[in-house]
Amino acid sequence: MFSVGIVGTGSYVPEKVITNVDLEKMVDTNDEWISSRTGIRERHMAPKDIPVSELCYQAGLRAIEDAQIAPEEVDLVIVATMTPDYAFPATACLVAARLGTKNAAAFDLETACTGFIYAAAAASQFVATGMYKTVLVIGGETMSKILNWEDRSTCILFGDGAGAAVLQPVKEGFGFLSFELGSDGSGGKLLSQPAGGSQCPASLETVKNNLHTLQMEGRGVYKFAVRIIGDVTLKVLEKVGLRRDEVDLFIPHQANIRIIDAAVKRLGISPHKVIINLYKYGNMSAASIPVALDESFKEGRISEGDTIVMVGFGAGLTWGACVLRWTKAGLKND
Ligand code: UT7
Repeated sequence: MFSVGIVGTGSYVPEKVITNVDLEKMVDTNDEWISSRTGIRERHMAPKDIPVSELCYQAGLRAIEDAQIAPEEVDLVIVATMTPDYAFPATACLVAARLGTKNAAAFDLETACTGFIYAAAAASQFVATGMYKTVLVIGGETMSKILNWEDRSTCILFGDGAGAAVLQPVKEGFGFLSFELGSDGSGGKLLSQPAGGSQCPASLETVKNNLHTLQMEGRGVYKFAVRIIGDVTLKVLEKVGLRRDEVDLFIPHQANIRIIDAAVKRLGISPHKVIINLYKYGNMSAASIPVALDESFKEGRISEGDTIVMVGFGAGLTWGACVLRWTKAGLKND
């Protein structure tokens, strides 16, 4: 088995910014409520005619450039999204075609906000076994397109964007040291887009009743999130015999600053090791972790050998975490 690491990262958010003050003109809310209850100050929004594949393409392109590889070297493209361009074909196929990854297989993976962690886990199995050498993993969302812009309890929370990572074999002892994934479908109703699938196909009625938009029981998700971030982090560290104080950088899914603060306090991880970017992006679902990872690296917050823990949670319910010992040096030509 090969060790597998991230040898390139990239991210992209659309230009348009919606501030909390902008939202005050759309729903009965205010900057003070949103900032104090969530930590979010603004989010980016894709134009109506821009699908998620475009955001994923932009992030993927940057990751490929950062990894200093040619698109033809990519063996597999995985896109994690819950806002695909279409029910089918897969967004990953569209992104692969645009990137010119002529030799790549491609598929989508949907575990909502945990998407990037699940996709990285799936991708790393292909590389670890030697089946593929280079996998491009992208988490991308256009949440703005599935929000009910009249529902103040949800529309203020989310944003659009995409983040990407190129996975390749790396030297032993580096790269992904462990993954921990989980799910509990009994909590599926806490967060869903009820209509448009085989359970409730699209009809005039479903459109009239707003069933194609995101529905959430915020309090339930909140409690689950605080508990699961702690539990899954401890499990993924235990798997490799690492202590909490050995973590150099902690990148949680960016949903709500109060969720992150409570979970980090419970874990006893030093706040200065925690990456927070939700104040400028909101919750970008599957994109939030890879965007935060890319920014952390570009801002010089990650050095060779650092131990990084990334933790996701979301609809499903799903959750996942990984421990990554950072190196960007791929072994692909050895
Ligand atoms: O990736 C996972 C996705 N989801 C999440 O992570 C969401 C997790 N949940 C949360 O982040 C929080 O539960 C929310 C931010 C969604 C809500 O915060 P909360 O502290 O749980 O507030 P709440 O739902 O209990 O609502 C408190 C009050 C209510 O008014 P009343 O009944 O006390 O009079 C709401 O109607 O705040 C009201 N409210 C608002 N007021 C102003 C709800 N949304 C808003 C708003 N502006 N946007």
